[in-house]
Order: sequence, then C-alpha cells, then structure tokens
Amino acid sequence: MRHPVFAANWKMNQAPADAKAFLKQFMASYPRQQDRQVLFFPPALSVSVVVDATKDRPDIAVGVQNIHWEDAGAFTGETSAPMSRAAGARFVLVGHSERRHVFGETEEQTSLKVAAAFRAGLVPMICVGETLAQRESGDTNAVIIRQLRAALATLAPNQVANCMVAYEPVWAIGTGKTATPDDAATAHRALRLELKGLTNDREEAVPILYGGSVNRGNAGVLLAAGDVDGLLVGGASLEADGWSGLVRT
Ligand code: PGA
Repeated sequence: MRHPVFAANWKMNQAPADAKAFLKQFMASYPRQQDRQVLFFPPALSVSVVVDATKDRPDIAVGVQNIHWEDAGAFTGETSAPMSRAAGARFVLVGHSERRHVFGETEEQTSLKVAAAFRAGLVPMICVGETLAQRESGDTNAVIIRQLRAALATLAPNQVANCMVAYEPVWAIGTGKTATPDDAATAHRALRLELKGLTNDREEAVPILYGGSVNRGNAGVLLAAGDVDGLLVGGASLEADGWSGLVRT
C-alpha cells in the first residue's frame, strides 16, 4: 500500500515570514505521521524557510513550483533545478495548468523541465488536466494522456516509475467546482493504464494525486475514489489549522 500524499501548492502566497509563522503553527498541531506524506510547494523565496522548519520530519518534504529547463545561465528571473535541489527541494511541479495557460508553457517545455528535474535529482510531479471545453467535447482522456506522454517523453521506464502525477481539471482549479469522485476515478484509471506501458508494468509505483478545489469537506470522498493516491491542494492549504485538519483526512 502506498501512503497517501497531501501536497500544498502555495502558488504566489506565503512570503518567508508568513511561511515561518505557518510552519510554527502547523508543526505544533501535526505530529509525525507514519501513514501519510506531506509535501509543501512554497514560492521559491520561501523554500529555505520551509526546509529548515521541517528538517527533522521525514514525513514532510519540500518542492518548488517551477524550474527552468537549463541548469544555469543568462535566464533573468528563472530558477534552475540544481539550485532548487541545493536549497533543499526534493520535488518540482511541472506543467501546472497556470504555467500552461497563464504563462504559455508548451508540452515540449514540460518535457525539457522533467529531464532537467531528473538531472538534478528532483522528483517531478507532472500536472495534467483538461479545460471545460475539452471535457464537454469528450476529449478529457485524450488530452491528459497526450500531456502525460509529452512530459515523460525523454524518460526511461525506471525513471517514469519514480515520478508523481497530478490530475487537475482546469475548470476545477480555484473555482470551487470539484470533479466528482467518479470523474476523478475515470481520469486516474486512464492515467494508470497509460503508465503501465510507460513504466514497464510498474504503474502502481506512481502516485496519482487529484487537485482542483479540494477542501476539508470533500477530501475524504476524493481520496477514497479509485486510483486516487493523494491530493494537490491550493487555496485550502494556505491556513495552518485548516491544512492540519485536511492532512489528517
Ligand atoms: P485549488 O488549486 O485547490 O485552489 O483549486 C489547486 C492547484 O492549482 O494545485
């Protein structure tokens, strides 16, 4: 049995001092758990604070929200995978819908970023998801499988088996609309089947998280849906006591 993964995507929130205050409160109310993993994806400037505050907690790890695909160089404003790793990050979100839809990140770029993550020893969490128009025209599975294949294109099967995947329907992110447990299970099943070939039958090794307007009220039913191995949470991860309650789901 995989342990469920609870991942907090703080997006462009929680400056270093806010992150420090959050962690103080969260750590006080959330003692070490053996049966679940908690991941924090703070903004890059707050990564060191979260790494420091959680260094004695093997059940908690830290990731970055984005990396550039080059390891170093003249890329003003960007953060590389090696410097993220050096700051203590162990994970990286790749292909989040806000990167794709707000910043125009392409499928080719997601593939380059996944390769950069592996070079630096970061575990990529590949985010996929369909828009409302794609869902309504019946293209959900085709879209998410295409995004998955593109992001993993450079990897060998044993590397794919060491990734994480997050299914986040675009229409459910930050909107208060959540996929039903059945919708989530259907999409996760399709991703799992695709991962079978991509991992040489080690598809069960890859945690597939659901994300999109997850909160304390719906976390339990979503986590109980077929092939849902964890939750990727934005808005409901920003307040320490709420998050502490959610990760106990
Ligand atoms: P949300 O964001 O929980 O605020 O919908 C989830 C995400 O974008 O990862």
